[in-house]
Amino acid sequence: MDRARRVLSRALTTLVVTAALAGCSNPSADTAPQEAGWLAPGSDIATALSTQPPSCLASTGDPLVRQGELLFNSPFLLGGQAAKAGVSCASCHENGRANPDFFFAGLSGEPGTADTTHGFFGPARDDGVFNPVLIPDLASSAGHQLVDRDDGAALSDFLERQIVEEFEGERPGPDIIAALSAYLKALDARACEDEPPASPETWRGPLSMAVDAVLAAEDSSGETQAAYRRAARHFLRRIHDRFPHARDAGLREALVEASQLIAAGEPLEALEQMEALRPALAAAEHRSLYNPKTLQARYGQG
Ligand code: HEC
Repeated sequence: MDRARRVLSRALTTLVVTAALAGCSNPSADTAPQEAGWLAPGSDIATALSTQPPSCLASTGDPLVRQGELLFNSPFLLGGQAAKAGVSCASCHENGRANPDFFFAGLSGEPGTADTTHGFFGPARDDGVFNPVLIPDLASSAGHQLVDRDDGAALSDFLERQIVEEFEGERPGPDIIAALSAYLKALDARACEDEPPASPETWRGPLSMAVDAVLAAEDSSGETQAAYRRAARHFLRRIHDRFPHARDAGLREALVEASQLIAAGEPLEALEQMEALRPALAAAEHRSLYNPKTLQARYGQG
């Protein structure tokens, strides 16, 4: 980038950040986790929002698998209504597994089911019939695998059609499909046999996803770079929405600022900002909507 463009981009960043901060000037911002919006009425929302199933990844450490995981967790891989609502692949398949509490009004029958041939997310697969089915655990091969994961061409075709036809997303490029395929292939129930069925959900997960998505964006170009940047900003938003306390207005503003730095193509500054936030996030965790007691006070049991 030449100097003039850099100066312009910095000026724009300042403008955007100032505007974003102005929007945050009301310290009692009433944020709420988007994922609370698709949990079954009567389910134990506090437990659902504070725990997660083990991810059962057979090859942790492979950067391509991690990149696939980031995209799998990003609503912006999908288009239209899903992206607007904040729904990602992982909303239904939490950590690549199932989600027994998933309930999206109009799309779900029993909790944990979804009608994947419904016109809500995209018209292409609308069969005009309300026929929700159980969301499968993608790490388990127990009888419901719809696609052979070892057949690369079939898997790519399945994923591409799913994103474009089922969820009205933009046609994903080969890098995006390669990462998603690697992630799906690495899911294996045998990899987590010895782990407890649920572990705590904290801000550390989305923060490390945001950091890795910024790094993945740096290694990519074009639409893939944009996809990782949007994913990173989504992960920061997820943290932001879990800290609604009036005392955490500054924390929320700093998260917005990090997000704007990513959007403005300032990865180093964004990474520094995210790193610097760790102590403040840890200090405020007890009053955040990651804390089971705070969640309990807000959502109660059932
Ligand atoms: C609204 C909830 C929902 C979302 C969002 C969703 N799925 Fe699914 N998924 C389902 C349901 C329900 C089925 C079972 C469909 C069937 O049996 O016909 C399924 C089936 C699958 C299968 C086939 C099962 C298998 O193990 O072979 C794969 C793979 C899959 N989903 C991956 C994804 C990916 C990748 C995304 C994001 C691009 C995604 N899903 C988004 C609900 C969802």
